[in-house]
Amino acid sequence: MKARPIRCLVSAGPTREFFDPVRFVTNPSSGKMGYALAAAAQQIGWEVELVSGPVSLPAPEGVRVQQVVTGQDMFEAMDARFDDCDVLIMTAAIVDFKPRAQADHKIKKHELEMVIEMDPVVDVLATISKRKKNQLILGFAAETNNLEEYALRKLTQKNADWIAANQIGGPDSAFEKDSNTLYLFGRSGERLQLGPAPKVKIAARLIEFLSQQLAIPKTKA
Ligand code: CTP
Repeated sequence: MKARPIRCLVSAGPTREFFDPVRFVTNPSSGKMGYALAAAAQQIGWEVELVSGPVSLPAPEGVRVQQVVTGQDMFEAMDARFDDCDVLIMTAAIVDFKPRAQADHKIKKHELEMVIEMDPVVDVLATISKRKKNQLILGFAAETNNLEEYALRKLTQKNADWIAANQIGGPDSAFEKDSNTLYLFGRSGERLQLGPAPKVKIAARLIEFLSQQLAIPKTKA
């Protein structure tokens, strides 16, 4: 009998949180790392679903793409797909807070409050990973400082098997660029550096690495 393909769920890109119909809070994520990972996973024969925030990238060939805009949209799309995946890759740069009030008309300059109150956005990864069964989970971390300490904290807080940390503002800074360096931290204390290299190359190596991880029998915690 032919084995079924590995099902891989990838999130990518930024999210947007609107405070009126034409203005929103976001970040500079281009989606390049997530799209490159989705393409690399498809190329090794995995069945890939990509949930993407607003980016200007074409859908990778052979990958099903679900477009989303807000953090809540991202949560609903990922929550609906998580239980059926074998590998979860969370590259999405989800905005962590949203304006408390959203005006239904364009706010005129003279009406704009200079303080915009914010509410938290759901932590997608931390929430869905509570239902983790056999999924292999790779989270990302974007850090300007204390990269290792924060990455290790995210490993446990987000119930991930691996965290791939990006150093923001370094020479191979992650956002918008075509190349990157990733620092991988594993649940059993493993450490690995990928790059500096083009994101497409890093993506291929990372997918190869995850496929090796899938082949390792799981030990009981
Ligand atoms: N993430 C998520 N939901 C959020 C924020 C982040 O699922 N609301 C995921 C990201 O996709 C990434 C990981 O959590 O895989 C870490 O994201 P990062 O932005 O580095 O950290 P935050 O959780 O936002 O924490 P902080 O802003 O304190 O660094």
